[in-house]
Amino acid sequence: MTTSQFPLFIEKFPEYAATESFDRLRETEYSRLDRQGQTYLDYTGAGLYAESQVLRHQRLLLDGVFGNPHSSNPTSSAATELIDEARKSVLCFFNASEEDYVVIFTSNASGALKLVGEAYPFTSQSTYLLTFDNHNSVNGIREYALARGAHVKYLPVLPPRLRVAEDRLDEHLALAREDGHNLFAYPAQSNFSSVQHPLEWILKAHAAGWDVLLDAAAFAPTNRLDLTAWPADFVPISFYKMFGYPTGVGALIARRQALKKLQRPWFAGGTITVASVQGERHYLANAPAAFEDGTLNFLNLPAVTIGLEHLESVGMDLIHERVRCLTGWLLSNLKEMKHTNGKPLVKIYGPVDTKKRGGAISANFFNPEGAVIDHSWIEQRANLHGISLRTGCFCNPGAGELALHILPEELTSCFNRPDHEQRLTYDEFRLCINAKASGAVRVSVGPVSNFADIEKFLDFVRTFLK
Ligand SMILES: Cc1ncc(COP(=O)(O)O)c(C=O)c1O
Repeated sequence: MTTSQFPLFIEKFPEYAATESFDRLRETEYSRLDRQGQTYLDYTGAGLYAESQVLRHQRLLLDGVFGNPHSSNPTSSAATELIDEARKSVLCFFNASEEDYVVIFTSNASGALKLVGEAYPFTSQSTYLLTFDNHNSVNGIREYALARGAHVKYLPVLPPRLRVAEDRLDEHLALAREDGHNLFAYPAQSNFSSVQHPLEWILKAHAAGWDVLLDAAAFAPTNRLDLTAWPADFVPISFYKMFGYPTGVGALIARRQALKKLQRPWFAGGTITVASVQGERHYLANAPAAFEDGTLNFLNLPAVTIGLEHLESVGMDLIHERVRCLTGWLLSNLKEMKHTNGKPLVKIYGPVDTKKRGGAISANFFNPEGAVIDHSWIEQRANLHGISLRTGCFCNPGAGELALHILPEELTSCFNRPDHEQRLTYDEFRLCINAKASGAVRVSVGPVSNFADIEKFLDFVRTFLK
């Protein structure tokens, strides 16, 4: 199957040929994948690291002596030097100038989002506007907004392609209140549908009086984000999603101008210039220190520099191209799969061509009678084939609810039942929504995905054809 289909694939996606070097990279840097027979299709869950990233980091740790960076002694200074280098690498990678932007290291993208949520000056004169297809760590900011009396408004995405209608955007952007702080949050790439919303919205929203939180966690691993061209105010990322290693480090890349607005709700070790017990006062340090609670993950930060260098050496534009080609092939094959009675096997949630979309595909599988095949069963079957994919709603309930036609009234009646006041299990939730699909199957490709991975997955999907 693989050998016979490859020429067709290349005919359809000739640009793939330019990414041939990635096949060698897979052999040299990611050989563990094929050695173990792993078909890894969860790059939106986590990227994979190259061997050389780990070896370079290990060498650096074995050769150096690094102390707690909150000091000026030699080992502390050595650590500080590496942290500064990591900050510079992040700014450079995202083409953000030091005058305009600051990199605040966090433990992941969620940590970066929490920093914004807890410190954004929401008042009863504020609006928190967000698209339906945000990750829960962006949805969660609404709790801070609501607690301070702000207005929370969701901007819908429209099934089946799950994009926003531009006139609805304009309508919602007009809701900014002149006398309050207004925050608009959207994903540069949805981790459910892989829709890439226009970066042009940043400029449009600024002009309409909004600060913009651009969630780049799913976008940054396979797309270039130029913050000079697209000056979003708050940009959360997780590094393990971009290059696999290290875990436990993310960043909030924040525009200095917007950061000035944030009011930290507390202080901690490392965030102050002076704090007094008897005087009951504290003075916050300048950013980034003011936002970095306690001791940074200083031994892992050099691995961020190494990871970014790795991505640059591989080439972001080529990564993007390879992902686009493989995603395109997946989409066109999945769309064509039909049972013998002519009924489609697969329903894709999100764009079905490669325009303005990333490398994740969320879908459900249906039997010839049109009944959905349980996504968790698909996952179990995929596990047996050594295929790593993901199922559920991927922490993106809004996109899931719209894609799967879960109705607001079903949700309200479910959540208002007295026995669901304190807790709700997943099985109870499924009963509430009438056994409709409560999630989907997601596969996502990355830089070292290859044609064989895709064919293995497509062969697996064909086993559900009747
Ligand atoms: C779009 C998006 N935003 C935020 C996050 C949260 O990232 P983390 O779990 O690393 O904090 C994720 C993780 O999947 C994501 O895909």
